[in-house]
Amino acid sequence: MDWMTAIVNDLATQGYSIQHQVLPHALFTALADECQQQPLRPAKIGSGHIEMQHNTIRSDLIAWLDEQHLSTAQQQYLAYMEQLRLAINQQLYLGLFDFECHYASYPAGSFYRKHVDQFRNNNSRQISVIYYLNRDWQSAFGGQLKLYNPQDQLLAEHYPTGNSLVCFLSDQFPHEVCETSQTRMSLTGWFRRRS
Ligand code: OGA
Ligand code: MN
Repeated sequence: MDWMTAIVNDLATQGYSIQHQVLPHALFTALADECQQQPLRPAKIGSGHIEMQHNTIRSDLIAWLDEQHLSTAQQQYLAYMEQLRLAINQQLYLGLFDFECHYASYPAGSFYRKHVDQFRNNNSRQISVIYYLNRDWQSAFGGQLKLYNPQDQLLAEHYPTGNSLVCFLSDQFPHEVCETSQTRMSLTGWFRRRS
């Protein structure tokens, strides 16, 4: 898989990767349809005792994939992520052992302010992977992901076009989702190691 090789190389050299047209079109369509049909709940911030619901920081809605009730499309997506996990481990020795993943939908007017994905009290999240599910995204809609380097300089700006995928080292790259004027959907996940 060319895009997987590219991701592994990019992670090794620059710590992040942006890929387009990654999955078969039918799988992209199935995942996008399912996201639209999911019951979604307001996302929370933090973990454990400091978990908060705070829509001045983020205002997306999410649904974790349910391991016990995976659709065929979800199983296929997770099989790709498993291949990617093995490819990353082979080259980068991160000891990634699993992948957690949720659908996310940003209603019109929502955003996610600049943050780093790794929790302060738990370093198990190693690599963030965001797969976008929006059929015809136009830059006028906003909703772009802005990715910064550890010195807080802007590295990349990515509009959430369908079937594109962004990944980066979870502890090093601040990022934000700019306000969107249209519903903005994704599958967002993290490769984890034992903490
Ligand atoms: C997140 C996040 C970015 C995006 O869910 O932590 O930063 O582009 N998402 O959806
Ligand atoms: Mn994030």
